[in-house]
Amino acid sequence: MIVDVYEAVTSRRAVRGFTDRQVPGKVLERVLSAAAWAPSGSNLQPWNSYVVTGGPLAELKKRAGRRAATGDPWDEREYEMYPSELKSPYRERRSAFGAERYGALGISRDDLEARQRAAVANWDCFGAPAALFCYIDRDLGPPQWADVGMYLQTVMLLLRAEGLHSCTQMAWSVYRTTVAEILSPPDELILFCGMSIGYEDATAGHPRTGRAPLAETVTFVGG
Ligand SMILES: Cc1cc2nc3c(=O)[nH]c(=O)nc-3n(C[C@H](O)[C@H](O)[C@H](O)COP(=O)(O)O)c2cc1C
Repeated sequence: MIVDVYEAVTSRRAVRGFTDRQVPGKVLERVLSAAAWAPSGSNLQPWNSYVVTGGPLAELKKRAGRRAATGDPWDEREYEMYPSELKSPYRERRSAFGAERYGALGISRDDLEARQRAAVANWDCFGAPAALFCYIDRDLGPPQWADVGMYLQTVMLLLRAEGLHSCTQMAWSVYRTTVAEILSPPDELILFCGMSIGYEDATAGHPRTGRAPLAETVTFVGG
């Protein structure tokens, strides 16, 4: 069990292959109870999580998988995942990520069809037996979206403490109406992302993504 914070942070990565070993409900409840201590401006706690397992998750995977397989168009967006023109250095970082992710699967840069096939695994939660869907009220703004990000990272680190892995997925937002069929969230909520949760399939092979040199993202002022 990981209790060291550095180890939890550095051993967390987007895992995209899980075994079918069930995640005990008690563990998920413990993680989400502790994650509630995540900070938020004025303690608004703007996260709304739905934890889905068993029959409802199987049904959701079936419906979303069918949409993906039949090339069903994505749902109308409620937020933009990225700016349409991604500028430097973000554009280069995204390309480097694509090369790492798809290179590890033996998929070339130009093979869009193979990339799409790999992406379909998103809507099977990469085989995970549990998923979390995180919503935010549409009346809240960027600071509250940042709060939700902190909350999600807290969830992911606590999952590491339980020997579990995760993969946050904005991909679920493209089939948000299908997710809503299963979860029936109130109209005022926007689906930010899903998160696959489970035990890592060690045979799947997971590339470790790189990071920009510290000097690119951190400025120390005052020595
Ligand atoms: C908000 C958010 C959304 C993401 N959406 C997806 C997704 O839809 N599908 C996916 O495979 N990975 C997704 N990821 C995982 C990122 O690609 C991954 O975190 C990033 O490449 C860094 O790699 P690492 O998490 O393994 O360190 C998402 C991560 C975040 C934080």
